[in-house]
Amino acid sequence: SRLLQCNLTGNWTNDLGSNMTISDVNEKGNFIGLYNTSVADHPNKIQQSPLVGFQHLKNPIDQPVFGFTVNWTFSDSITIFTGQCFVDKDGNETLKTMWLLRSHADNTKNNWNAT
Ligand SMILES: *[C@@H]1O[C@H](CO)[C@@H](O)[C@H](O)[C@H]1NC(C)=O
Ligand SMILES: *[C@@H]1O[C@H](CO)[C@@H](O)[C@H](O)[C@H]1NC(C)=O
Ligand SMILES: *[C@@H]1O[C@H](CO)[C@@H](O)[C@H](O)[C@H]1NC(C)=O
Ligand SMILES: *[C@@H]1O[C@H](CO)[C@@H](O)[C@H](O)[C@H]1NC(C)=O
Ligand SMILES: *[C@@H]1O[C@H](CO)[C@@H](O)[C@H](O)[C@H]1NC(C)=O
Repeated sequence: SRLLQCNLTGNWTNDLGSNMTISDVNEKGNFIGLYNTSVADHPNKIQQSPLVGFQHLKNPIDQPVFGFTVNWTFSDSITIFTGQCFVDKDGNETLKTMWLLRSHADNTKNNWNAT
C-alpha cells in the first residue's frame, strides 16, 4: 500500500510562473487560498486574487481530486479549476489541472465568446 499522501496545502507554481498558496484543508475538504497569476490581458493590473475550493476526502485520499474557483479581483471574470494531486514514490507532488475562464458579456448575443 502507498504511504505517501499528496497534500494540497502550501505553495504551488506552474510552468507560466503563476503561483498560489492553499491554506489548510479542513476536515470536510474545504479550503481557501490566494492566486497570483502571471498571465492577463493587462499584466500591469494583476492583483492577488482569492480562491475557494473542495477536495475529496473519501478513501483513497493519497491522490485527491479537487476543484476551486478564483475570483479575479482586477477584472470582471472568474476562473474555475479542477484537477488531481499526484505524488510519486520520491514524494514529489504535482497538480494536474484544467481550467475554464468566464469573462463578462454585455448581452446574450455576445455570450458565445465569453468562455
Ligand atoms: C498538509 O500539510 C499541512 C502543512 O504542511 C499540514 O498542516 C497538514 O496536517 C497536512 N495534511 C495532511 C492530511 O497531512
Ligand atoms: C509560501 O510562500 C510564502 C512566501 O512566498 C512563505 O511565507 C510561506 O512560508 C510559504 N508556505 C509554505 C507552506 O511553504
Ligand atoms: C503572491 O504575491 C504576493 C504579493 O505580491 C506575495 O506576497 C506572495 O508571497 C505571493 N505568493 C506566492 C506563493 O509566491
Ligand atoms: C508568484 O507570482 C508573483 C506574480 O507573478 C511573483 O511576483 C512572485 O515572485 C511569484 N512567487 C514565487 C515564489 O514564484
Ligand atoms: C470578487 O472580485 C470582485 C472584483 O472583480 C470584487 O469586487 C469582489 O469584492 C471580490 N469578492 C471576493 C469575495 O473576493
